[in-house]
Amino acid sequence: MGEEIKSTNITWHHGFITKEDRERLNGHKAVVIWFTGLPSSGKSTLAHSVENALYQRGCRTFVLDGDNIRHGLNKDLGFSPEDRQENIRRIGEVAALFVQAGVIALTAFISPYREDRAKARAIAGTENFIEAYVKCSLEECERRDPKGLYAKARAGKIPEFTGVSAPYEPPENPELVLDTDLETVEESTQKVLDFLKNRGIIS
Ligand code: ADX
Repeated sequence: MGEEIKSTNITWHHGFITKEDRERLNGHKAVVIWFTGLPSSGKSTLAHSVENALYQRGCRTFVLDGDNIRHGLNKDLGFSPEDRQENIRRIGEVAALFVQAGVIALTAFISPYREDRAKARAIAGTENFIEAYVKCSLEECERRDPKGLYAKARAGKIPEFTGVSAPYEPPENPELVLDTDLETVEESTQKVLDFLKNRGIIS
């Protein structure tokens, strides 16, 4: 699904306003911060915390969150490897559109496969893509289990559950590592902000 172009007779139309124009208007660069990690590692919490901090600084932001997107755009997808691949492909495309729109997009998806994350990076353009590994031991994620899903998965009630019966491939060379079993939310958030400042994305 999704690799080939089925439409024929289509032509790319260039507009007058560029990403750089929109960035100038906004007063900051546009990037995607791609949070990846096990269920309950803290991806959504951090994406929203970073968004909040950026908003307070006057930045234009948007969070794309796995559970939310699966209620709408991706409600036709389940959790097979093929469906997760398509999930991440679509979000890679959506995040790239947000970047073109001049926005700092924050994505919170397990995105368990390295290859799929690499494709999302390629779609956005590697200079626009910040992979943030939300690192947390399986034991700690399972202890948190705010939605009770690990317990259900251990009881055999959720098939193909990431970390229990489906794989998670950690990033090999992420721009950021956020160690959520060692750092507070505030510390991890500050790490992301410092990175964005050092890269000249925000001032
Ligand atoms: S991904 O693997 O395709 O990136 P995504 O981040 O969109 O996953 O969705 C993960 C969310 O779906 C989890 O936070 C959890 O609430 C829910 N979920 C339901 N079934 C599963 C499953 N089998 N594996 C992982 N998450 C699941």
